[in-house]
Amino acid sequence: MIELGLRNDVYRRPLMTALDRLGLREGWRCVDVGAGGGDVSVALAEIVGRDGRVYAVDSDPTARDRVAEAASASAQVVAITQAGEDLLLPEPVDLAFCRFVLMHVHDPLQVLTRMGAAVRPRGWVVAQEPVTTAGRIDGRPFSMPDARHPDVGALLPALALRAGLEVIDAWAEAPAGAGPGPVADYVAHLTGVNPGDDPVVLPPLVTVVARRPA
Ligand SMILES: C[S@@+](CC[C@H](N)C(=O)[O-])C[C@H]1O[C@@H](n2cnc3c(N)ncnc32)[C@H](O)[C@@H]1O
Repeated sequence: MIELGLRNDVYRRPLMTALDRLGLREGWRCVDVGAGGGDVSVALAEIVGRDGRVYAVDSDPTARDRVAEAASASAQVVAITQAGEDLLLPEPVDLAFCRFVLMHVHDPLQVLTRMGAAVRPRGWVVAQEPVTTAGRIDGRPFSMPDARHPDVGALLPALALRAGLEVIDAWAEAPAGAGPGPVADYVAHLTGVNPGDDPVVLPPLVTVVARRPA
């Protein structure tokens, strides 16, 4: 698994664009599905503040400790071990978020549907998933053999509609670069090979901003 701090460097901009687009603010209750090490959970917690709450949900029990460490200064982050397919929270939330998760689950539609059910009526569902093979290293496509759905980003708006959600906005963003820097570091971490001065376009991240109907 890739280190989340590194990923956050290169994919931070799409995250902030999405959170700006939906107007996340103090006091919101959120769930971060497939929270991993908790980078996104902590970013959400910083915005929702002490009056808000962030449920950091992951099917991997070891994620709880990693989230607890990352969120040690954020009392509003609650780590839960649960599969996204079974998502069930103590209360309805304003936002259900996932990033780099639907690409790994058995059934992305089921997880999106559960995320829609977890938010209040008119609540927000935001998913950010890659189109892995649209990334390029020196002109050659990326591959990610370990992922069940490496290109699920390409289906994301349609999946949100099939999950019964109203799609408010959708777009794709891809960090790019050549030579030393965070993009080359990320590729080196992902593939084990430093791309040197080769041109890189990282896998575009498709963002869908959707709402549960009233
Ligand atoms: C690539 S990491 C992404 C972490 C985080 N969302 C981020 O963007 O930094 C994928 C995470 O999804 C979790 N995951 C995989 N399948 C899951 C499922 N069915 N339900 C919940 N979490 C799952 C993994 O345990 C892992 O922590």
